Amino acid sequence: MALPKRALITAALPYSNGRLHVGHIVGAYLPSDTYVRFLRLNGVPVRFICGSDDHGVAIILTAQRENRTPAEVSKHYHGVQLEAFKGLRIEFDIYSSTSRNPYHAPLSQEFFTRTLEKGFFEKRSTRQFYDPKSAQFLPDRFVRGTCGFCGTLDQNGDQCEQCGKMLDVESLKDARSVMSGDPATVKDTVHWFLDLSRFQADVARWIEKATLRDHTKKYVEGLIANGFVQRSMTRDLTWGVPVPLSDPEAQGKVLYVWFDAPIGYISNTKELCEIQDGNPEGFSDWWQSEDCDVFHFIGEDNTIFHCMVWIAMLQAHGAYQLPRGVIVNQFMNIQFPGKEETKISKSRGTAIWIDEYLAGGGDPDALRYYLTMISTERSKSTYQPADLIQRQNSELANVLGNFVNRVLSFTVKNYGPTVPSAEEKSTSDVDHQFNEKRLAAAKRVAQSLEEFSFKQALEQVMEFARECNRYIDEKAPWATRKTDEALTKTTLNFAIQAIRSLGIMLLPFMPTTGEKILGFLALDASAATWGDASSQLPSGHAIGEPKILFQKIEAEAAASPKE
Ligand code: 2FM
Ligand code: ZN
Repeated sequence: MALPKRALITAALPYSNGRLHVGHIVGAYLPSDTYVRFLRLNGVPVRFICGSDDHGVAIILTAQRENRTPAEVSKHYHGVQLEAFKGLRIEFDIYSSTSRNPYHAPLSQEFFTRTLEKGFFEKRSTRQFYDPKSAQFLPDRFVRGTCGFCGTLDQNGDQCEQCGKMLDVESLKDARSVMSGDPATVKDTVHWFLDLSRFQADVARWIEKATLRDHTKKYVEGLIANGFVQRSMTRDLTWGVPVPLSDPEAQGKVLYVWFDAPIGYISNTKELCEIQDGNPEGFSDWWQSEDCDVFHFIGEDNTIFHCMVWIAMLQAHGAYQLPRGVIVNQFMNIQFPGKEETKISKSRGTAIWIDEYLAGGGDPDALRYYLTMISTERSKSTYQPADLIQRQNSELANVLGNFVNRVLSFTVKNYGPTVPSAEEKSTSDVDHQFNEKRLAAAKRVAQSLEEFSFKQALEQVMEFARECNRYIDEKAPWATRKTDEALTKTTLNFAIQAIRSLGIMLLPFMPTTGEKILGFLALDASAATWGDASSQLPSGHAIGEPKILFQKIEAEAAASPKE
C-alpha cells in the first residue's frame, strides 16, 4: 500500500461525558496518532482532527446524574479528556467540540437542508418510546431493553453492544424508561427519515474500494446482505443542533447525534483552517480535493455509523469526498490479577483510567507500547496490568534500554563523546549483515505502518532491537577493546547507527522515547525523517551521555481496579 499524497486523519469524537480509559485509547486514538506521526516523518502533508461529541442522550443523562447542564458536563469532560490525550502525547491538530465550535451547527444544518432539498429525507409520523410519568419521548439511551436481533438483555435503545445493530421501537423489546424505570409506552411523533436503502449500492461500491480490515469488510457485507432501512435523523430533545426548518412540526427537535457527530470531522477541520491560516474555507482542500485521502480511525462499536450511515450521508449530500478508509479496532477486555477476564466497564469498576495511570506515575510510552503490542487490529485482546509491567521490564528496559545504554556509555567512557570511526579493514561479514538487517527493518516497519499493521510494525522494531543485542553480544567490544581498538570502534559505529535507526523507528509509537534516543545522539527529533532510519551518521558526530530510558518497576505496582 502506498503512502497517501496528502491525508486527513480523524479519530472518533468521544462523548464528553466521562474519563478516558485504555479501551478508548487502543481503539481509535493511539493508532491514529501513530499513523499521523509516521506520515509526518515521511513528509506527507497531514491534518489530525478530533474533538468532543457533545450532543445526544449520553450527555443529557450524565448531566442529570451530576446535577449540571449538558453544556457544563460537556465542557468539563472535554477538558478532562484533552488532559489525558496530552499526557499520552496523542497530539491532534485540533481538539474542538461539537457544541462550541462556531462552524459546527451551521455546517450540520446545511448538511440537513441540502439533503432534504435533494429529496433524501422523508418526513413522517412515527411511533417512539414515551415515558408518561416524565412526559417525554425516550430516544436512544433514554430507554433500555432486549435486543430483538440477538436477544442480549439490557441494551441501550440506540445500539446493541453485542451485535452492533441499530435498535428502534420495533427491534428493542421489553423497553423500560431510564428516567422512571417504568415500562416504556409508545406514542406518535413526527421525524425526518433518511432512507438508507437508497444508498445500499453506493455503500457496496465503497466497501469494494475502501481500505478496511477484513473483519470490518465482512461485517459491513453482512449489513448489506440484510438490507438497509429508514433511519430517523431527528430527535425530540432540546440539547443538540436545532432542526433548521420553519415547519411548526420541527420546533423543539434537534438533529440525531449520529447525524451531527461525523460532520464534526468537517466542521473541526474548518475551525482548524481558520485558526492556522485565518481561512476557514481552506477546509475544502482537505474534504473536496482528489489528492487528499480521508481516513477515519474508530472502535468497532462505531462501524455501522461510519461504514454505512456516514457513507450514505456523504453520498446524499454530495459535496464531500468519501473516506479512503476506515480503520477499525475491536474491543479489548481486561483481566486483573486473580480475577476473570471481563469487559472494560465503568459501572463494574473494571477499567484502567488514563488520568489515574498517569497520576500514579505510569510511563506514557510504556502504556503506548503495551497497548500497541496487544492492539485489537485483527482480533480481541486482553489488558493485564501485570503484563504491562512485565513487558516494561523485560522488553523496554532489558532489550531496548539496555542496548542503547550499554553501547553509548561504553563509547563515551572509552572513546569520548563522538561517533567512533568504522574502518573497512576492521569490518566483517557480521557487521555488513547487521547493517543489512538495519536497512531491512526500516523498510519492513514502514511497509507494516503503511498497511495500518501497527502491532506488527512495533514487533518488527523490537525484533531489530533483539538483533542489536545479539550483535553487540557477539562482537563483545568490552573484550576486543583490550586487543583491537579499530575493530572495537567499528563495532560501536555500527551499533550507534542502529541506535539512531531505533530512535527514528520508535518516534511514531513512543515519541518521548524516540526523542530521548535521538537526543543522546545530539539529533533533533523534530527535524528527523523516516529516511534517516536507513542513513549513516558520520564518525566524529557528537554524542552525549545516555540516561536510563525505562525504569524497571516492581510487580506489586500493578494497578488494581478502582471505581
Ligand atoms: O462512540 C462514541 O464515543 C461516539 N461519540 C463516536 C462519534 S464518532 C464521530 F462520528 F464523531
Ligand atoms: Zn444485538
